[in-house]
Amino acid sequence: MRIRDEEGGDREAVAALVVSAFAGRPYASGTEARIHAALHDAGAATVALVAEDTGRVVGQVIVSPVTLDGGPSGWHGLGPVAVLPERQGQGIGSGLIVEALTRLRGLGSGGCVLLGDGGYYGRFGFRPPRGLHAPGLPAEHLFVLPFGDEPTGAVGYHPAFGI
Ligand SMILES: CC(C)(COP(=O)(O)OP(=O)(O)OC[C@H]1O[C@@H](n2cnc3c(N)ncnc32)[C@H](O)[C@@H]1OP(=O)(O)O)[C@@H](O)C(=O)NCCC(=O)NCCS
Repeated sequence: MRIRDEEGGDREAVAALVVSAFAGRPYASGTEARIHAALHDAGAATVALVAEDTGRVVGQVIVSPVTLDGGPSGWHGLGPVAVLPERQGQGIGSGLIVEALTRLRGLGSGGCVLLGDGGYYGRFGFRPPRGLHAPGLPAEHLFVLPFGDEPTGAVGYHPAFGI
């Protein structure tokens, strides 16, 4: 299994795996694959990685910029992240997230936010926000990983998330 940058030829396989990973999840919107595609189409994929095993794409993660109080923030949002159902629980998601965070730090990002389950993401250093909030989104699911100081203000995801 290796983690590499997503390429144009991966788009179909990634869309299929995102659909299958989120299928039946109570928190799924059903739009995750379209969000992934829209982020690419908008040139907003700061980091897009896939996990490949014997030529098959088995996982993916995408990271995009977020705004702070409507303006540039230097921060990023992680997700969607997805692993093929039959390959979950084998460390693939963790490998993708760790590599995406390493890339972000290398790019000089201020930090990363995500909407998810703290029980899983705490292991990567994500914690509840102290100064950031995300209007209209469930506060208990917002987690942050500052690479320096955490700013104060309203985080806004890319418009692709409004699909
Ligand atoms: C979430 C996901 C990407 C994790 O990838 P993975 O390869 O299965 O994860 P790993 O093998 O690296 O880690 C497994 C651990 O994560 C935990 N985990 C996986 N999904 C979880 C979730 N939704 N909530 C809480 N914990 C979760 C497992 O219980 C396991 O815990 P353990 O190490 O204490 O036993 C994958 O399960 C998936 O695609 N889920 C469906 C899509 C989804 O929910 N995406 C995230 C929301 S954007």
